[in-house]
Amino acid sequence: MKKWKYYKKIFAYFKEKKFLIFIYLLTSFGITGINMLDPLISARTLEAITKINFHNMLLFSILLVVCRFVSNLISYLNKVSSRKIQDDVELKIKEDISKELFNLEISNFDQKGTGFFAERVNGEASSLAGIFTYLRYNLVGFLSSLGVLIYIFYLNIYLGLYFLIFSFVFFYLNIRRTKRWEVERKTSNEMYEKYSSNFNELIRGIKDIKVLNLKEALIKKTLKDQRAIKKYNYESRMRDEKHWFLEDILRSLYELFFIILCIILIKNGLLNGANMLVLYMYRGRATEFINEIGGIYRNYKEVNISMERIYEVIGGEKYPKDKYGDIKITDFLGELEFKNVFFGYDKNQVLKGINFKIKAGETIGIVGKSGAGKTTIFNLINKLYTPEKGTILLDNININDLTEESIRENISTITQDPYIFNMSIKENLKIVNPKITDEEIIEKCKLCKLNEYIDSLDHKYDTLVGENGVILSGGLKQRLAIARALVKNSKIIMLDEATSSLDNETQEHIHDSIRKIRKDYTILIIAHRLSTVIDCDKIMVIDKGKVVGFDTHDNLMKTNKVYQKLYQKELQ
Ligand SMILES: Nc1ncnc2c1ncn2[C@@H]1O[C@H](COP(=O)(O)OP(=O)(O)OP(=O)(O)O)[C@@H](O)[C@H]1O
Ligand SMILES: [Mg+2]
Repeated sequence: MKKWKYYKKIFAYFKEKKFLIFIYLLTSFGITGINMLDPLISARTLEAITKINFHNMLLFSILLVVCRFVSNLISYLNKVSSRKIQDDVELKIKEDISKELFNLEISNFDQKGTGFFAERVNGEASSLAGIFTYLRYNLVGFLSSLGVLIYIFYLNIYLGLYFLIFSFVFFYLNIRRTKRWEVERKTSNEMYEKYSSNFNELIRGIKDIKVLNLKEALIKKTLKDQRAIKKYNYESRMRDEKHWFLEDILRSLYELFFIILCIILIKNGLLNGANMLVLYMYRGRATEFINEIGGIYRNYKEVNISMERIYEVIGGEKYPKDKYGDIKITDFLGELEFKNVFFGYDKNQVLKGINFKIKAGETIGIVGKSGAGKTTIFNLINKLYTPEKGTILLDNININDLTEESIRENISTITQDPYIFNMSIKENLKIVNPKITDEEIIEKCKLCKLNEYIDSLDHKYDTLVGENGVILSGGLKQRLAIARALVKNSKIIMLDEATSSLDNETQEHIHDSIRKIRKDYTILIIAHRLSTVIDCDKIMVIDKGKVVGFDTHDNLMKTNKVYQKLYQKELQ
């Protein structure tokens, strides 16, 4: 996407805030006008003091108070309006980016880690919306100092020129600093992104880290990364300090030459004392004019960086997005077919021409060695990844032509380590099907042998389960996930080692429940324990990325070597 397209997008956010922007601009001009009066009145007060003119001293002091009061009032309105614009825009940008983030292909997260994307959404959206506040200072500052500069020219053209020349010197320094800062900001962002991505990972793995006794080693590593960031930022700050040092020296020289120039002008009758006093009060503000342009330039760069970093993720080619079609399935039967499907996560080919057809209402077991590609088949059915070659059909429609809803609503997957939300048990179930009644929830939980456990809890179905269901055992999480799939009521139900954490009795109970409901659904069961899939309508044997057997248990036992081997291993 071209840069101007980014601008258009960002501009669209602000366009909705027309009224607030009007107030904001109006008050910005208001502050500008009032700010210009301030030094003028101060100078007149000083003049009155030097001439011991009590009347004027009092008059100008009162004027100054009135002036500051009005200035504060307008400034308040200005701040409120800009704050409101910033907050609203930030929220909207974050909302849009979050939505877009969920549309990215899963492979992006495999490569970059989740922390990387989280950092971009939170950090850059705030920074982008925050620009408005900075711009407020820049705009007010710029307008005020422009006015001052014009007034100086009006009072004395020689001093006007003098201010202008020095302004350009300061401007040059400013631009030089911004250019350096731009490079530094990018590097420091990349460093921080990497660090925070690693840190997120650490926090997620906190249990294993403790048990593996890796605490010390990992803290050391984190500290090392943090130290590197600190060092880089320190060096960049030091370069800033050098810049300020040089600028301060220049400013002192600028003041000295100002006085010398005034003396020369007064001696030659080109300036009077009163005007010199006014100009003296304005001397700092005059050069600010160019500094503010520098500030605007810097903010423009900041917008560019934030925009690029955000839209690189959500709007560009770099991170591919999910692609869906527009065919909606109504009355889905539950047929599923793979036609010569090839797929690999990276260079390594995992699936090498998978072919099978599952009729609606069949229950299929899927077996094969670890790493054979069983979960990968589920990932492709869920369209989390896209095959390199071949077609996947749901009810004879290419999965690529279906809408996202058609796929999500009609397929439920239960994994070995399912994700349970930090909500109550009931909410965890209702979230997939808000219309379900409490009676139906209880019925599904009974099927999954969860009811006894839930009844033993103080708050029953309203018990909060903690982050990723921390209060639940592995087996309970699996049962809750199966109940969730039943509540969702999709035509295709896929279980990936979904009962592996259960004791034999509970596992048998769940499989009994599956037997009871199996005629209404197409069920795919990945299992290492062959005993749990023996009575499936058919069993698919996956080996080295291919389907090497697809038949009933009895037939496979007679004809399929890979299956026989797997079976024998289990008996041992
Ligand atoms: N996200 C990923 N990125 C890269 N490689 C992956 C990814 N997921 C799986 N793989 C690799 O793909 C191959 C097939 O993995 P898959 O998870 O499909 O095997 P599986 O048959 O389900 O194994 P298991 O029985 O151990 O669950 C493995 O070699 C695995 O290392
Ligand atoms: Mg697997």
